[in-house]
Amino acid sequence: MPTMRAAFASRFDDADPLAALTVGERPEPTPPADDWVTVEVRASSLNHHDLWSLRGVGLTEAQLPMILGCDAAGVDPEGNEVVVYPVVATPGDPRGSSILSEHFPGTFAERVAVPRANLVPLPEGLTLTDAACLPTAWLTAWRMLTTKGRVDDADAVLVQGAGGGVATAAVALAVAMGKRVYATSRDAGKRERIAALGATAVEPGARLPERVGVVIETVGAATFDHSLKSAAPMARIVVSGATAGHEPKINLRRIFAMQLEILGTSMGTPGELYELLAFCADRQVRPVVDSVVPFSKVEEAFARLHGGEVFGKVVLDHTA
Ligand SMILES: NC(=O)c1ccc[n+]([C@@H]2O[C@H](COP(=O)([O-])OP(=O)(O)OC[C@H]3O[C@@H](n4cnc5c(N)ncnc54)[C@H](OP(=O)(O)O)[C@@H]3O)[C@@H](O)[C@H]2O)c1
Repeated sequence: MPTMRAAFASRFDDADPLAALTVGERPEPTPPADDWVTVEVRASSLNHHDLWSLRGVGLTEAQLPMILGCDAAGVDPEGNEVVVYPVVATPGDPRGSSILSEHFPGTFAERVAVPRANLVPLPEGLTLTDAACLPTAWLTAWRMLTTKGRVDDADAVLVQGAGGGVATAAVALAVAMGKRVYATSRDAGKRERIAALGATAVEPGARLPERVGVVIETVGAATFDHSLKSAAPMARIVVSGATAGHEPKINLRRIFAMQLEILGTSMGTPGELYELLAFCADRQVRPVVDSVVPFSKVEEAFARLHGGEVFGKVVLDHTA
């Protein structure tokens, strides 16, 4: 059976997810249906999702070994440069769909099989490295701000834990949309870099000079009370992750008295990915890239994400 280079979860390790990562040979993708194609991956990017997978969140033992990776940009069978939309219809999954690396093998490999309908042409002006950052973290941030957060009706936005992939995306996009953006980070160096993106950077929990119309939450328990306190009347607190704990204490009085909306969201639609790509190309918004790591050093990329030092996206260069 022909094989290819890949990075995959071979077991789960909640305490030390890096120990569950294996880099080695896996079988070439076999498209499960006629309308699937195989994409040559040129660039991919890491998400916190990949660490969750190594911890065993969202996967079962029966699904191992599972090639990791949600994001990819590469070349389709006709030679076109494409961005891969990572959400795939999945009968039997309670959500009705799954993200690559959950039921279907992911993108940290030489090649990945996806439905042809999931291929989006690479817009002019974006590189494959840029594009590999967009389909998960940036798409999530785009939907959090637009469809869910209705940011057009807000003057100010708060982004929690602003060093992360989703969070840096939300900062860059909200600044490009002309909003006043506040962003928290635990790290002074990251706060400086957030300020350079055009946001007002503050320490976690700091009182803001104004209440905001939209809060972007991916941190969870560590920041949720601050999100509630910083929200203006009728504000939307949009939640797409809970890196620091998913069971925060919530003051219900604040929710009804201020008429707040708490909205959950996950990824985005293909239409939203088209909108995001067009916005980035037209407005010259480029993803915040922490580092580009050769695929041959994929373990180092995982260690960097796990270490919490990242500012923006860690990209894998599959040509190296
Ligand atoms: N639902 C979806 O569609 C979707 C899509 C993408 C991501 N997510 C989820 O969103 C979350 C973020 O993903 P990501 O890929 O952006 O992760 P990431 O790049 O690893 O960033 C996580 C950020 O969370 C902050 N953080 C972590 N622990 C914290 C703590 N104890 N207190 C305060 N802040 C803390 C850090 O910010 P500072 O260091 O700046 O403080 C860190 O930069 C994950 O839980 C992921 O599963 C969901």
